[in-house]
Amino acid sequence: MDKRERGEGIVVVGGQWGDEGKGRIIDILAKDSPVIARFQGGNNAGHSLHFDNKSLVLHLIPCGIVHKDKVAVIGNGVVLDPSVLFEEIASLEKQGFPVTPENLKISRHAHIILPIHKIIDRIREGSPLLHIGTTKRGIGPCYEDKVARFGIRAGDLLFPELLRTKLHRLLANRKGIDQESPEFTQQVLNYGAELKPYLCDTGEYLDLRLKAGARVLFEGAQGSLLDIDHGTYPFVTSANCVASHAAAGSGIGAQWFKEVLMVSKAYCTRVGEGPFFTEMSGSLEERFREQGREYGATTGRPRRCGWLDLPALKYAQRINGATGLILTKMDVLVGLGPFKVATSYQSGENKDLSYSDAMERFNQGFDVQVNYKEFAGVTEMSSLIRSREDLPHTLQHLLSFLEEELAIPVRMITFGPKRGQELMLSSLGC
Ligand code: IMP
Ligand code: MG
Repeated sequence: MDKRERGEGIVVVGGQWGDEGKGRIIDILAKDSPVIARFQGGNNAGHSLHFDNKSLVLHLIPCGIVHKDKVAVIGNGVVLDPSVLFEEIASLEKQGFPVTPENLKISRHAHIILPIHKIIDRIREGSPLLHIGTTKRGIGPCYEDKVARFGIRAGDLLFPELLRTKLHRLLANRKGIDQESPEFTQQVLNYGAELKPYLCDTGEYLDLRLKAGARVLFEGAQGSLLDIDHGTYPFVTSANCVASHAAAGSGIGAQWFKEVLMVSKAYCTRVGEGPFFTEMSGSLEERFREQGREYGATTGRPRRCGWLDLPALKYAQRINGATGLILTKMDVLVGLGPFKVATSYQSGENKDLSYSDAMERFNQGFDVQVNYKEFAGVTEMSSLIRSREDLPHTLQHLLSFLEEELAIPVRMITFGPKRGQELMLSSLGC
């Protein structure tokens, strides 16, 4: 299995606000990677897979689990809702994908999402003052407790006395929401018993596999612009989503990373509140939403749609150190008329702004002006694309334009939701 002389980490991250199609990419790349690891986020993610007339959405377990003989790892940077984990395991098994301690490894340090975290998330989302459009899965409050050092880690669930003390401290810090009861503690302990066989030091496991020559795929969740530090704060998730976090969130050293693949749609979407400078409106947005099936895989919410944003992609390329681009959903552009790509931003005084400047201007309450490049509409596209040259001219032009502007190669494109509707344009690491 571990064939290389030296192992390597390949990180797949979202270049936008999530939902770029990362799950699909992981599914494709998992063929050549015996190990697939998640390093941040929780079941706020929704990775859709479509194959063999089956559709599957995974929220927590890395997508590689559907491949035989692959190991899926949930790293320490992930926040884990045990009830969701067990539901996901049951549903995978029902569909014929066995989940065992041999093919699923969970970090003892992953923090546990408790019912109280979901309650707090929902209460905040119900308040006009505090609402930011979260997935209400308790992600933010769980990360808060982690950073406040009141969190419960997966490994704590194995030790009843320790767990009781830790729960008491956590709940004391969350006054007003009383969850402490013997039944509640027992329920969390029961989760521990079920989790036990899967728990390990995932950093140690990954290090061993890398040293033995394995390629490890790191499955990013959410996207660069939802990153807690670098995204459109405060309209972000509560974790770092950028590629460098793959090391800290899984417990391996940074020397293992060979390639950072940034996934972007050929247009752009976002769910939840926050700035979206290239957002469409009216019937155009509706047509994109319908053609692209742009409804949240986790919450079912209609996604906001907009044009591809080059300044944002350049920013995402920089903060991730992306070495290759993967452009997804190219087929959605077919039949929707001329399409646009944002090329630059300007202030009211006609000063050029970077994406980072534009976010600052937005925070200060100022408008930013977006300049676009227009591309001719694509009227049809063959379903058989075996080389770049099989693509309509406009789409070939789009790829060259992005490669030139971002100064990285397009590694892969996808042009339909099914397995096979993708094309690798250059091999990894070249
Ligand atoms: P939270 O992660 O549930 O706290 O939500 C914070 C923000 O991130 C909201 O705008 C969510 O819609 C967004 N978000 C979280 N996870 C995803 C995802 O996997 N895809 C797209 N948006 C997400
Ligand atoms: Mg998603």
